[in-house]
Amino acid sequence: MSDWLEPHVIASAPGRVNLIGEHIDFSHGFVLPFAIADRTTAKLRRRDDSIIRIRSVQRPDDVISTSLSELNPLGGGDWERYVLGVIWSLKIDQGVDIEIDGQVPLGAGLSSSAALECAVAVALNQLFALNHSRKELALLTQKAENDYVGVPCGIMDQSVSLMAQEGSALLLDCRDLTTTLIPFDLAASSLELLVIDTQVHHTLVDGGYAERRNNCESAAAKIGVVSMRDLSSQLLQESKSLLTEHEFLRARHAVTEIARVAQAVELLKAKDFNELGKVITASHLSLRDDYEVSCPELNCAVDTALANGALGARMVGGGFGGSAIALVAQNQLDVTEKAIAAAFSSAGFIAPRFFTSLPSDGARVELDLSSI
Ligand code: GLA
Repeated sequence: MSDWLEPHVIASAPGRVNLIGEHIDFSHGFVLPFAIADRTTAKLRRRDDSIIRIRSVQRPDDVISTSLSELNPLGGGDWERYVLGVIWSLKIDQGVDIEIDGQVPLGAGLSSSAALECAVAVALNQLFALNHSRKELALLTQKAENDYVGVPCGIMDQSVSLMAQEGSALLLDCRDLTTTLIPFDLAASSLELLVIDTQVHHTLVDGGYAERRNNCESAAAKIGVVSMRDLSSQLLQESKSLLTEHEFLRARHAVTEIARVAQAVELLKAKDFNELGKVITASHLSLRDDYEVSCPELNCAVDTALANGALGARMVGGGFGGSAIALVAQNQLDVTEKAIAAAFSSAGFIAPRFFTSLPSDGARVELDLSSI
């Protein structure tokens, strides 16, 4: 590919782990994710025509070549749709060569797609001097995923990929996108956050995510509130007869999860990790029993971690596979990993992968030669 010239702009963006606040971003709730160290990098070069070329370090022989006039929302395709969607939502009107180096594990529930979208968005923003704020870029990348790719995701993953900071979790109010950094220094308390990738691959394009989101929206409409954010436990109980069983259970998850995020923030500030662990586990039970997005592998990871001394554990992200997290003492990490691997093996599941990650920085421009 000798006709690929040096990039004008390089930007990178991380994947994420959500500490707590699951399936409530689209209900205007609060979420508390942090960025992981694994990042996706986008190298962009402006062209003089309207051609878009995309290739990746991971698949060097697969070059996608299209043009601005061929951008086609919901037109199908592979991973390049996430890149094209961002070009579309940012209304780019000049051709560009894009090379991607994706280092966020795919399908592990760690938001590799948001990392890809955000790396491309930050690079385009710089290359074409668009001057969008990070908040605007979060909304534009979400629009790319919703309206171009066709995945009805909320705003959490893009927001944390764009706005996270090293050493902190990001408390995000999904109603107005205001953020507060909550210092999150587990190492100082001799703890680790173990990420267990079940290797069961999920895809949000499948109906389960949208169906539950619809349950929350129809419950809100029947009760007469804008979203789950405006619903109290008491009002939910009083309105039970208006709702289907599914609507009631999904709404109960949303209401209790929003309360758990508030508790978690206070416990983090107080460095009370024992109690924080209990709140994290309560989130898992609610996702398993009320929201029904867990799966046997995630439950096995969580149950085994808890049986082996974890302070708390839960599934993260969309569910139906992907990863779980466990809050574990540093000196217990090895024991916990071995116990989970053994439990997976005896249940006949695929071997899980383990990661740990410190809270890392959000998206950044790595090289800027855009004025050349
Ligand atoms: C996926 C979506 C997010 C969020 C989570 C569940 O990661 O992309 O918007 O809804 O699921 O919390």
